[in-house]
Amino acid sequence: MARKKIIAGNWKMNMTPSEAVELINTLKPLVATEKADVVFCVPAIDIIPAMEAAKGSNIQIGAENMYFEEKGAYTGEISPAMLTDVGVKYVIIGHSERREYFAETDETVNKKVLKAFEHGITPIVCCGETLTQREQGVTIDFIRQQIKIAFLNVTADQAKTAVIAYEPIWAIGTGKTATSDQAQEVCSAIRACIREIYDEATAEAIRIQYGGSVNASTAAELFAKPDIDGGLVGGAALKPDFGKIVNY
Ligand code: 13P
Repeated sequence: MARKKIIAGNWKMNMTPSEAVELINTLKPLVATEKADVVFCVPAIDIIPAMEAAKGSNIQIGAENMYFEEKGAYTGEISPAMLTDVGVKYVIIGHSERREYFAETDETVNKKVLKAFEHGITPIVCCGETLTQREQGVTIDFIRQQIKIAFLNVTADQAKTAVIAYEPIWAIGTGKTATSDQAQEVCSAIRACIREIYDEATAEAIRIQYGGSVNASTAAELFAKPDIDGGLVGGAALKPDFGKIVNY
């Protein structure tokens, strides 16, 4: 069975709640499609107004992060139950910005992935190499390690529903999109890694996105690749251009 594409926006630390409502109202008609899943991952404080604004449309609202404990003395964190209580179905886990600025590691990513599944939230698990690692020729080794640790103790049935976002760090926010061949090579290696950990059925079911300077002119070629099942879009998700990416 063909995998359904999933095009997600990662708003990062942009858009106040009132700006979020305005942007969703603008984008709603532009991203209306049955062909792909459309997810807007928004700042925690925007989730509830974004849900309201997206009601009746095909837009699903996701979170950008979540903590791996149930509740308690973790000032400033958002729990999985807080997300599910308002209907969140997707959460980005282990974005490179969280790894770089907020000390997330492969181990915390794994804890968060397990916790998300426990609560029925689909994790969008991020991985990606630095420019140095690419130049050193260790990209695939590095990504395989990130994936293997992120999926420790995750069952095949859970993994089948997961989303992985391959985001080379050198391509994020730089305007330097990976070529479709570069992106395909790594996405195919990720699928092979999942096949190795689990089995063919899991590898065929899991959806793998590319992220890093995706825009209206690069989306079509990237998403046409056999192992690229959509995109995780930063900057361009905040503009009407996102409609063009969704309808690539
Ligand atoms: P840009 O699309 O702005 O490069 O960001 C990509 C990204 O980090 C999405 O998670």
